[in-house]
Amino acid sequence: MSANSIDKASVSDIVDRFGSRPEMLVQILQSIVQVHGWISEDVIRQLASDLNLSRADVHGVVEYYHDFRTSPPGKHIVKVCQAEACQAMGSRELTSHAEQAVGKDTTLEDVYCLGNCACAPAVMVNGRTHGRVDAERFDTLIGALEGRD
Ligand code: FES
Repeated sequence: MSANSIDKASVSDIVDRFGSRPEMLVQILQSIVQVHGWISEDVIRQLASDLNLSRADVHGVVEYYHDFRTSPPGKHIVKVCQAEACQAMGSRELTSHAEQAVGKDTTLEDVYCLGNCACAPAVMVNGRTHGRVDAERFDTLIGALEGRD
């Protein structure tokens, strides 16, 4: 299996765990993302068939929820908060900086409030939240992550 494909049997196991019930589509998709990190076009096709839904139905749900990534994630995931308190403290500028600063092994995503508003702007690096992140601090965090200086 390549890094760009998701094992069909594993998806079938997840569908079975939810009793192959179409009304459990969101939970099934969440489980697939937990295990595999993303939802491929093949998975959408398989879910439509296994749950007796149209591909448009499955696509609609995948597109609605921001967390259902449709391409394989990088080795590291960095989220920059785009909600109000962080925006007021410069998260847009930080995002522009981040887009230039991250390497190809890192997936950069938006997130809407990390519950760390008092220490805006906030960033999450591989599941860990950091507050008061400016461009310099961002570079330090990313440098440590990607083994750069
Ligand atoms: S608004 Fe960014 S952590 Fe709450």
